[in-house]
Amino acid sequence: MEKYVIKGGKKLYGQIDISGAKNAAVAIIPAALMVEGVCRIENIPQISDTKKLLEMLSLMGAKIKYINEHTFDIDCTNVYMSDEIFELTRQIRASYYLIGSMLGRFGEAHTTMPGGCNFGVRPIDQHIKGMKALGATMDISRGFIKAQAKGGRLKGARIYLDKVSVGATINIMIAATMASGQTIIENVAREPHIVDLANFLNSMGADIRGAGTDVIKVRGVEKLHGGTYCLIPDQIEAGTYMAAVAATGGEVTLNNVIPKHLDCISAKLIEMGVEIEEGEDYITIRRDGELTHANIKTQPYPGFPTDMQPQVSTVLTIANGTSVITEGVWDNRYRYVNELRKMGAEIQVDGKTAVIQGVDKLYGAPVAACDLRAGAAMVIAGLCAEGTTTIEDIIYIERGYQDLVGKLRKLGADIAKVNDPEPKTDSGIAEAV
Ligand code: UD1
Repeated sequence: MEKYVIKGGKKLYGQIDISGAKNAAVAIIPAALMVEGVCRIENIPQISDTKKLLEMLSLMGAKIKYINEHTFDIDCTNVYMSDEIFELTRQIRASYYLIGSMLGRFGEAHTTMPGGCNFGVRPIDQHIKGMKALGATMDISRGFIKAQAKGGRLKGARIYLDKVSVGATINIMIAATMASGQTIIENVAREPHIVDLANFLNSMGADIRGAGTDVIKVRGVEKLHGGTYCLIPDQIEAGTYMAAVAATGGEVTLNNVIPKHLDCISAKLIEMGVEIEEGEDYITIRRDGELTHANIKTQPYPGFPTDMQPQVSTVLTIANGTSVITEGVWDNRYRYVNELRKMGAEIQVDGKTAVIQGVDKLYGAPVAACDLRAGAAMVIAGLCAEGTTTIEDIIYIERGYQDLVGKLRKLGADIAKVNDPEPKTDSGIAEAV
């Protein structure tokens, strides 16, 4: 089994490049299924989720050409439905975007319920409501999803989301792109990758307006054509390195970022005593003084991202004073707290609230990654802890961080990926979902 081994206590210095946004890539790759022609997509992060999605398209007959490490030509001119994708669709969350893109392309969809990180119950009722409003019948049983557009093509509709959902916004926007007539989606999410998906689809011939606001209007088109598109940088990857520097101290410049997307993370870190300097496409993080406690409430964009909650909470475990964290998006996003306690953190959790009492330092220990961002939090804890930390179940981390070990080593961290033939210790946490 592969593990990370970190010898903590080293400050981070230097500069690294931030990769393309995972959550944009995992929406844009399935959306490419609707394009008849060659899509050249640049800045695709090399992570297991994007590799699996490209493999799914390939199993459906797409021709995928590797141009360079981050650029792929995807040609979906001759695609077809295939049951061979089911083993992969069960493994990742974003596979549910194939419902929207298959309905758009084929007038029908056949896939499985998605996988992904376990943050408690993850319903998809808003996705289903959207597809039904567009005229699809939805049949969900025994883990399979079958959808059929009445008359073979979806029909534009007015849809109000009962809950601000990133996934439902994306899925309905994809499906509406090829529907007949106009779709208006209200109370939508506004995350940067939603704007990125709209920009991608528009550059391939779609007519989508309002992405980034809470109402999106889509005028359906008959066909999408090929083109070239470059993905935005990853807000959460950048935020994770910002949190790492806040935890260890040092000075790091992150290149290829959009500082505006990092505003809410920067503001919180500044409140905690971190210095931040922004350029047009870079951000420098410096910390040499003490860390101060802070309160955080996670919210949909432009609020503080839930996907940064575990990492920044980890930094707060070594800040002076008491911090209160309120998780405003997911029901169960504190599973990593038990692991941090093994390293000496003092955290009490009551429902969606965590109270962190800062301690002088964390101590290295064997821990596990219980999901993607929780795994990133364990890495941050290991980097600032005294002694050696080993992290199991790194498969979760590698779903979303390109070359985490290489980038951290470039900044001076003592981290290695090792292959441990020993059977898994009973962390009691990791489970495939
Ligand atoms: C996406 C991100 C995930 C992030 C989350 C919130 C991807 C691949 N994943 O997940 O990393 O943590 O946004 O920023 O982009 N909900 C419903 N019904 C639905 C859909 C969602 O009740 O049909 C609820 C969820 O239970 C949750 C909230 O809405 O409480 C937000 O979920 P959503 O924004 O949909 O998250 P994902 O798109 O799954």
